[in-house]
Amino acid sequence: MSSDSNAVQEHELGEQHLAGAMALSRAANWNQNQSDWRMMLRLGRGFGLSAVDGTLVASIVLLPYADKFAWMSMVLVSPAHRRLGYASRMLRLALDYLRSRGLAAVLDATPAGHAVYVQEGLHDTWGFQRYALGASPPASDWQDLSGLSLRHIAEGDWPQILSLDLPAFGASREPLLRALAARLPAAALIARRGETVCGYLLGRDGREARQLGPLVAQDLATAHALLAHALARVPAPLYADIPDRHAGLRSWALLQGFAVQRPFTRMVHGMAQAPGDNASAMLVAGPELG
Ligand SMILES: CC(C)(COP(=O)(O)OP(=O)(O)OC[C@H]1O[C@@H](n2cnc3c(N)ncnc32)[C@H](O)[C@@H]1OP(=O)(O)O)[C@@H](O)C(=O)NCCC(=O)NCCS
Repeated sequence: MSSDSNAVQEHELGEQHLAGAMALSRAANWNQNQSDWRMMLRLGRGFGLSAVDGTLVASIVLLPYADKFAWMSMVLVSPAHRRLGYASRMLRLALDYLRSRGLAAVLDATPAGHAVYVQEGLHDTWGFQRYALGASPPASDWQDLSGLSLRHIAEGDWPQILSLDLPAFGASREPLLRALAARLPAAALIARRGETVCGYLLGRDGREARQLGPLVAQDLATAHALLAHALARVPAPLYADIPDRHAGLRSWALLQGFAVQRPFTRMVHGMAQAPGDNASAMLVAGPELG
């Protein structure tokens, strides 16, 4: 690896780097818009490498979840500066930062990123695939066959949503969930059976498509109902990231017209398993968020 480490400078990412950050994620055909970058920099910390002319050439964002672990996100290197060791350098900086704070690291790797992360000591846990929907299916009314009731999330729902989410994700992520509820209100849905909350869905706008997720549900029927309700109200194009273990949900998505776009691998550093329980995490929030 020929790292020309003097040609670039490390720095923290701030509001003044938003245009450069957008250029990096757009060059990789990623879906983040400026609201995503702003949200991530508000909830976490970003670091970058800039060339002498001030151009941002590499990025990484760390999103701490409670005092347990941090998501490593937005590992991007501009196409003209790849294979110079910049991603490895950002990763080492991030891992040192997390180690000094006693935090483990988790990330969702693209196939290109996977090669870098393995060399830095991260290991694989489970996988998921991005499903993309180009055109909305014909409107069909969701039929309540199992005593479920669905409605938009209201302020009073948060305590129950957070208790459902905690075991599924493995740490509290209230600030993120509340931010997402404001990003795409049409997808911010809660499902109940009687008084019991048995699932919720959130979403967000994006540069290429709206993303549905996270979706946490106690059973597949609840997941189907939440998604069918959202599909009737949130126009395509849409992305949804479905864990490989949820074969029933993957088949259902294909029947709705979704197609598999690309795979991701959840990787960890400083912990043996991925946090949380993906039996009830039916859609992840997205590779950049967890
Ligand atoms: C993945 C990415 C961040 C790698 O950045 P980079 O600065 O080129 O990576 P490094 O130079 O630190 O690579 C270190 C080593 O990882 C491996 N590696 C890096 N990119 C690779 C690729 N595309 N294919 C195979 N191996 C790769 C190589 O062993 C490399 O060492 P070498 O160049 O001496 O052979 C960059 O290609 C990128 O921005 N891709 C698009 C966005 C993306 O997928 N990001 C990862 C998100 S999880």
